[in-house]
Amino acid sequence: MPCPSRSDELVFFVNGRKVIERNADPEVTLLSFLRKNWILLVRVLARSVFALKLRLAVIMKLMRLTGTKYACGRGGCGACTVMVSKRDPTSQEIRHFSVTACLVPICSLYGAAVTTVEGVGSIKTRLHPVQERIAKSHGTQCGFCAPGMVMSLYTLLRNHPQPSEEHLLEALGGNLCRCTGYRPILASGKTFCLESNGCQQKGTGKCCLDLGEDDSSSLGRKSDICTELFVKEEFQPLDPTQELIFPPELLRMAENPEKRTLTFHGERVTWISPGTFKDLLELKAKYPEAPLILGNTSLGPAMRSKGHFHPILLSPARISELNVVSKTNDGLTIGAGCSLAQVKDILAERVSELPEEKTQTYRALLKHLKSLASQQIRNMASLGGHVISRHSYSDLNPILAVGNATLNLTSEEGTRQIPLSEHFLAGLASADLKPEEVLESVYIPHSQKWEFVSAFRQAQCQQNALPDVNAGMRVLFKEGTDIIEDLSITYGGVGAATVRAHKSCQQLLGRHWDELMLDEACRRLLDEVSIPGWAPGGRVEFKRTLIVSFFFKFYLQVLQELKSLVKPFPVPNNRRYPEISDRFLSALEDFPGTVSQGVQRYQSVDSHQPLQDPVGRPIMHLSGLKHTTGEAEFCDDIPVVDKELCMVLVTSAKAHAKIISIDLSEALEIPGVVDVITAKDIPGTNGTEDDKLLAVDEVLCVGQIICAVVAETDVQAKRAIEKIKITYEELEPIILTIEDAIKHNSFLCPERKLEQGNIEEAFEKVDQIVEGEVHVGGQEHFYMETQTVLVIPKTEDKELDIYVSSQDPAHVQKTVSSTLNIPSNRITCHVKRVGGGFGGKIGRPAVFGAIAAVGALKTGHPIRLVLDREDDMLITGGRHPLFGKYKVGFMNNGRIKALDIECFINGGCTLDDSELVTEFLILKLENAYKIRNLRFRGRACLTNLPSNTAFRGFGFPQGTLVTESCITAVAAKCGLPPEKIREKNMYRTVDKTIYKQAFNPENLIRCWNECLDTSSFHNRRMQVEEFNKKNYWKKRGIAVIPMKFSVGFVATSYHQAAALVHIYTDGSVLVTHGGNELGQGIHTKMLQVASRELKIPMSYLHICETSTATVPNTIATAASIGADTNGRAVQNACQILLKRLEPIIKKNPEGAWEEWIEAAFEQRISLSATGYFRGYKAFMDWEKGEGDPFPYYVYGAACSEVEIDCLTGAHKKIRTDIVMDACCSLNPAIDIGQVEGAFIQGMGLYTTEELKYSPEGVLYSRGPDEYKIPTISDVPEEFNVSLLPSSQTPLTLYSSKGLGESGMFLGSSVFFAITDAVAAARKERDIAEDFTVRSPATPEWVRMACADRFTEMRWSAPQADPQPIALSIERIPIVCLGPVPPQMVKARDPALLHRRNSSG
Ligand SMILES: Cc1cc2nc3c(=O)[nH]c(=O)nc-3n(C[C@H](O)[C@H](O)[C@H](O)COP(=O)(O)OP(=O)(O)OC[C@H]3O[C@@H](n4cnc5c(N)ncnc54)[C@H](O)[C@@H]3O)c2cc1C
Ligand code: FES
Ligand code: FES
Repeated sequence: MPCPSRSDELVFFVNGRKVIERNADPEVTLLSFLRKNWILLVRVLARSVFALKLRLAVIMKLMRLTGTKYACGRGGCGACTVMVSKRDPTSQEIRHFSVTACLVPICSLYGAAVTTVEGVGSIKTRLHPVQERIAKSHGTQCGFCAPGMVMSLYTLLRNHPQPSEEHLLEALGGNLCRCTGYRPILASGKTFCLESNGCQQKGTGKCCLDLGEDDSSSLGRKSDICTELFVKEEFQPLDPTQELIFPPELLRMAENPEKRTLTFHGERVTWISPGTFKDLLELKAKYPEAPLILGNTSLGPAMRSKGHFHPILLSPARISELNVVSKTNDGLTIGAGCSLAQVKDILAERVSELPEEKTQTYRALLKHLKSLASQQIRNMASLGGHVISRHSYSDLNPILAVGNATLNLTSEEGTRQIPLSEHFLAGLASADLKPEEVLESVYIPHSQKWEFVSAFRQAQCQQNALPDVNAGMRVLFKEGTDIIEDLSITYGGVGAATVRAHKSCQQLLGRHWDELMLDEACRRLLDEVSIPGWAPGGRVEFKRTLIVSFFFKFYLQVLQELKSLVKPFPVPNNRRYPEISDRFLSALEDFPGTVSQGVQRYQSVDSHQPLQDPVGRPIMHLSGLKHTTGEAEFCDDIPVVDKELCMVLVTSAKAHAKIISIDLSEALEIPGVVDVITAKDIPGTNGTEDDKLLAVDEVLCVGQIICAVVAETDVQAKRAIEKIKITYEELEPIILTIEDAIKHNSFLCPERKLEQGNIEEAFEKVDQIVEGEVHVGGQEHFYMETQTVLVIPKTEDKELDIYVSSQDPAHVQKTVSSTLNIPSNRITCHVKRVGGGFGGKIGRPAVFGAIAAVGALKTGHPIRLVLDREDDMLITGGRHPLFGKYKVGFMNNGRIKALDIECFINGGCTLDDSELVTEFLILKLENAYKIRNLRFRGRACLTNLPSNTAFRGFGFPQGTLVTESCITAVAAKCGLPPEKIREKNMYRTVDKTIYKQAFNPENLIRCWNECLDTSSFHNRRMQVEEFNKKNYWKKRGIAVIPMKFSVGFVATSYHQAAALVHIYTDGSVLVTHGGNELGQGIHTKMLQVASRELKIPMSYLHICETSTATVPNTIATAASIGADTNGRAVQNACQILLKRLEPIIKKNPEGAWEEWIEAAFEQRISLSATGYFRGYKAFMDWEKGEGDPFPYYVYGAACSEVEIDCLTGAHKKIRTDIVMDACCSLNPAIDIGQVEGAFIQGMGLYTTEELKYSPEGVLYSRGPDEYKIPTISDVPEEFNVSLLPSSQTPLTLYSSKGLGESGMFLGSSVFFAITDAVAAARKERDIAEDFTVRSPATPEWVRMACADRFTEMRWSAPQADPQPIALSIERIPIVCLGPVPPQMVKARDPALLHRRNSSG
């Protein structure tokens, strides 16, 4: 079949308007097309207003749609979600489905209608209820995830206008949010749900809103306590008739489908889309190497990050034969082109039609189809693509294999069937497709009576996570017996391919289904399934344990079913089926996903407060609606400026090496490449001696920036960096772990120490002493908006405008000034809003700003630098991993007399904030406890890793985990519950801290007591114990944690703040201040302050941006104090202005604001004022170990309950109650949002977020697929947050407190609840109750800690290569790793994937 040399026109619709693309490039994704292109939209109007007759008018419009966001580019975060609508050729119905635009090639959209967030609604025209409700329910903070959330929810409502809560979880499971903690997003979604009845306190039998006499807590009794953060009655109803219709033109196209082959030629790749099956087969014969492209969820990521290249892509999207579904008496045939979402529906329908015995395989597949990837990916991925990709982690192939599925193949030669066998899965040529063959469909036979099929899977978290290990298992019994006639077991995630344990199964044929068989099966399975150390997703010992644990679950499941089935049959040979004790049945239950419920309580404002005064009210985030409509402009949404160029960074592939040479010649020859910026181009200073912006002759970590390519497009720049050749000479030593750093005496700064009492003497007098170690892993910020900067050089006086996503624009300005050797007054930094920072955008943006500025100066062009998620994670560092050792001396009653803690943090290769983090860590270690004899020491290790930096909580979340672990260890030794030890040792009266700062712990005690009350802690503790007695394989744990968190910086100068307030003659007011909007709602709070002070409604006020030109010399927005200090400055400016207006107001008290302003102008009274706050006093004398380092404390307490599955290590969060001392919250909706968001982020730190490095120091976890932040299904099933009422602090602005960081540590209540459950399991199994504490408590850690016969069995067969490939940086010394096959090296080692450019 000839392939035309000219491209066809690509026709599709975006937001109801036609797009005609004449030069569609197959390599362009929908995301970059929407964001970067000025799209020519053709609107065809059917009616002209001036003519009676119908006639056609064509409106051309150029459009750039930036509402759809980039955050990962791998389909893993949902930020780029859009809705695609197509007419289904079989059902003839319009199918609406969500997709991730970053994986959708535009060429796949022929004949489709795309709806983006801009097409759903807008502030300018009409808001969609989804947009309105997410915003008004406070479901946005930074707002970067909001358009994706809107699109997922919108698509759900297009298909189900009254969805179930299960639908809701499913639809939003693929959308990550790093700020909100999801609770408010769920709350908004639930307003559309059928069963949403408003009752929040599930299972307690009482309604949350009905705070009656039963509620024994003082929170419950208070009449001035509010539980509503938004008014549901205000919401517009959902009116499905108002939605965009499917374009009639596309309908016509679908009714008369184009049979001609369509071809789209790109720069490097040709896309061929045949119109008939015959043509497809002809093309496949002609281009046997060309892959078929369907969902592109496998091909796309491989092309993007593994360097796979296919010059020709064959798209069978228009071949209806691949979508045929046929039902027969003995099975089901599903077209290979059906999406996984369609497969799910098809199977669900079949299950509802057939008797249970026939649907075993279908139900097993359905189970995995619920958790496989996200809704978006399931909508895109095809059955054929899934089967053929043969990913080792495939969730469906193990089940299809045991279910004896066959593959129907077709080529020009004809058709044939091959089994989906272990040989096919292993990729053996004899069992595989021939290159010219196409998979037409998959046949899945029915199961039969006496046959049982099950599926198992364990992943880092429940939703949207690749499995660590999965399995499909099937057994067939001789009729009426428990004798195994056929057995099939297949595992995924255990090596390079899905593995079938064929030998073991054969050897078990003819055996009875009993304990003896179970033991033998486990032994044989472990013998047969050999797991290489490099297999991703956990250590070998964990995987081996899962192999047998899954089989044990299968054994029990089958036993249960067999027993019920066999009842009517006579028991052969008087055999008795083994009884399963009720305690063991808990092994069978999975944790179902449930939508979180809960109550948020806060104190209402005084009834005398004027209505106009917004302070203390739950005002929506100022940008909320702009976030949800996509109209909020983030840095990379700024339209391309004239002559703009792109910059991409080149980073070191070596952890410690000398740079011998850099060869740029080939890179500079790539078309479009303008320049490569190296250290030599820096006119001023290149960072500091120890922390260079661009490496000069030595690199200190993988990911260190060496140079930067400037090109016309980012694609060209990325191609160029592949061509840069850097020769290194490796240097010794390479230090990656804390243990290695200690060994090499490699530290960044001197030890910090605080001491009180006489620790040695105290240890002599105590009843008991315990020593222990605690390991806390690092954390990636994972702000949704990656680091972004746009530098625009001006023509005059070397002026520069810099638009940057930063928490500290003044630092960017300063760094650019010294790098370019240009005074600061020529450089203006602008921050409109930041898509999440969490500390990660304090120091780093200055580096990117400075490098981009060098590029701008050298080329004379504006430079845009937007980091890929991979680069962002590789380069920027994160939270410091920590290794802590403690020695604690206590009396038998639990009173702690002496505590000695020594902590080491992994600082990475430069100082950055590591010294400060060490100091904060030491200052905060005592948490809520008064211990007379204390010694705290801390040191930051210098290692060959990217420098770690500030992160929400600044050392507190890591350090205090050591203190709290110590308390748990004391409790275990005393045989008392941990909460008793906590209570016994807590500060009770006005006292002094270890650094001699006086404070009153009254609110700490109040929070603690309220938390115990509201959570019914003591009752629930008993219930947990009861549950644990009754269940062997599931255990519950409960923990309550107190918190004393110090707010602010340890320096008065860091608390200063300024504001500039202008009143214009029309009465409108422009407020500017030194804080940056990171999602924490600082601008909203500032306008609340200004509104109260000026006594005008918030509608008169506006904040445009933070800029170094309006408020100079600002302090980083950090340390939870931004709203407080900047609020003081705004207050000051407003008070100055009001004072000036006073005489005018006095003269005309009944006058309107506008009249007063006009009069003031007439009288030449300045309507502009600078406000200033000189800062809270704060200092610390480290010599003396004394000071007043913090302005004030935030107190809190959290209680969490979890249930763990001892066989898999999975856990579910049953309930969390938080009580936080916010004093008089400026805005309870925002503050509760901060508490919830930080709590969930903390929960991620302590349970799922695990950074993995290669032994060479290369970060493996560089995207959402390898690094798991919490998803919507991780929110506790019941999640209650209360702000402590009637609390005051005279020191701060309106008696409010900063809550930005403190909630983070409360996430540890989940961690301690998990360890409580693990301890219960260990106790029952008679294993030592004290165990090394390790955070995160991943499923792997939990499973291995719940040691049992299966964890012991893992050693029963020797493994060729038991060593892990990944290192935990906080502790594990470098080990000698086993060999890694070359193909895996390519797949696993990002340093070798692209641009990492060693000539060696
Ligand atoms: C973010 C993300 C999360 C994921 N999570 C999971 C998970 O939890 N569990 C899991 O199991 N998987 C997961 N996956 C993998 C996903 O299931 C597969 O990528 C997907 O099923 C592949 O289907 P596709 O249509 O996108 O294939 P494509 O990428 O379009 O094609 C893949 C390959 O299949 C070949 N092919 C496709 N159709 C045919 C045919 N009819 N005949 C011959 N060859 C064909 C192509 O030539 C190509 O080589 C995830 C993927 C992503 C991106
Ligand atoms: S950017 Fe597309 S899913 Fe993350
Ligand atoms: S609001 Fe969701 S990522 Fe910031």
